[in-house]
Amino acid sequence: MPEAAKSFYLTTPIYYVNDAPHIGHAYTTVAADVVTRWHRQRQEDVWFLTGTDEHGEKVLRTAEKNGVSPQEWADRLVESAWQPVLETIDARNDDFIRTTQERHVVAVQKFLQGLYDAGEIYKGSYEGPYCVGCEEYKLPGELLDGTGEYAGQKVCPIHLRPVEMLAEENYFFRMSAYADRLLALYEEHPEFVQPASARNEVVGFVKQGLQDLSISRSTFDWGIPIPWDDKHVLYVWFDALLNYMTAVGYGSDDAAERERFARTWPADVHLVGKDILRFHAVIWPAMLMAAGLPLPKQVFAHGWLLVGGEKMSKSRLTGIAPSDIIDTFGSDAFRYYFMRTIGFGGDGSFSWEDMVARYNGELANGFGNLASRTAAMIGKYFGGTLPAAGARTDLETDLEAVAAKAVADAEAAIDRMAIHDAVAAVWSLVDATNGYLTETQPWKVAKEPGETDAEGRGVDGGRLATSLVTAAEALRALAVLLHPVTPKAAARLWEALGAEPVLGPIAAQPVASAASFGVLPAGTTVTKGAALFPRLDEDA
Ligand code: MSP
Repeated sequence: MPEAAKSFYLTTPIYYVNDAPHIGHAYTTVAADVVTRWHRQRQEDVWFLTGTDEHGEKVLRTAEKNGVSPQEWADRLVESAWQPVLETIDARNDDFIRTTQERHVVAVQKFLQGLYDAGEIYKGSYEGPYCVGCEEYKLPGELLDGTGEYAGQKVCPIHLRPVEMLAEENYFFRMSAYADRLLALYEEHPEFVQPASARNEVVGFVKQGLQDLSISRSTFDWGIPIPWDDKHVLYVWFDALLNYMTAVGYGSDDAAERERFARTWPADVHLVGKDILRFHAVIWPAMLMAAGLPLPKQVFAHGWLLVGGEKMSKSRLTGIAPSDIIDTFGSDAFRYYFMRTIGFGGDGSFSWEDMVARYNGELANGFGNLASRTAAMIGKYFGGTLPAAGARTDLETDLEAVAAKAVADAEAAIDRMAIHDAVAAVWSLVDATNGYLTETQPWKVAKEPGETDAEGRGVDGGRLATSLVTAAEALRALAVLLHPVTPKAAARLWEALGAEPVLGPIAAQPVASAASFGVLPAGTTVTKGAALFPRLDEDA
């Protein structure tokens, strides 16, 4: 039997359920969704995983504060916030893993027992400063001096809140033994940690040497029990990282799940915020090396959404909910804005002014207006039926060349996770098509002799017909290329172009051939439809 092709497998971090999602979380998920939709549009087999991280002290404390059990709290947040937000941002994930699910718990215990049996885990004791926000022991040198209400205390450099001294008897993972193998990995596979700034940080960190990692806690019980010692629960990060494998069938006895694991693992990209880079680029590969399992191909760290120069966070009351923006602008504009404006890998900020300006300038005037005026002219001069184009001039050949370059550049950008460059490449076709209409001026050509008949209807094979067919072809290409970024508007445009009955569903159009013109046949029914991005009042 031929082996099934390997799926393109991409993950988001699994989100802590201590609070509801803000736009920082949505940013990661949208990026993951755009990249996986792009791979789907290439007609690849894709698996896109997201989910929630439900164990650990941080979630436990939030539940206690709210007077409910941690499981009840997690259920409530997942059902009321974390699952609904996926629909709000229009994410098309294939699965949603929760670390309290049995499929996860059972497989994690198997993994642990395997490491224990192989002598990779031992019992010891540890004392050190712990940040519950990060769910991580900190090294004393990393801490900052607190200010304001925390003056005189040491605080976590990420959460700017006091750390707690913990002294416990724990189980330890022999992570120190993997420093050299990790350095060799970063050296031989520079693509393993990206972008370059993230790679440098990780290499510098591991070069200082690694300590063994405390992987159990015994002062609370909200976690996965250590299989050989149920007085301990597993450290939440060890538990959480394993989701990437347990969700695709690792450790399952079910044949179909085992087959899925073979087809899906290793992951192609773990997309993470830079705050959790080390967990993914140091601890995770060390765990997999210890278990003798294949390593993911890439950990890509993106930057932070900043508010007032600091990482947006609910705990610092700077969080904005995705629906605050989407209720006004829609999910397509939200996705477009964050993917287009922030260089993926760097930090960025959000401002309402910039959002309104780009919505009106780029989406409403640039793209939406291009679609509506092209359809309106096909309606006016050809009764909504695509005419037969006439002879091509350099203008048409040049526009098709722009489309071909847009596809090639966007493809290359997606492969290096430069999502902003991919969107900009596609946008070069929006701009060039607007420029093409400005230059060909079909509304003026329509007045020239021989272009229209006695009733003012355009004729096949004229310049008027050629320019409108060419603009329609560019829009067809744009619908396909923007489908991963602005799926709703792209689908509406596909419908307006009457493309489905003649070319099939938009999802089935390969990226690679999107730029070849001359695809929509003469006779295709084009309708104007509602505006793709209705203009917003600047002071609304
Ligand atoms: N539960 C862990 C991850 C475990 S993965 C095995 C966790 N969860 S989290 O909810 O705190 O945040 C996860 C991710 O949300 C971050 O890595 C990042 O991708 C995203 N973001 C949270 N705040 C963000 C910003 N302000 N800006 C950009 N992304 C942000 O860490």
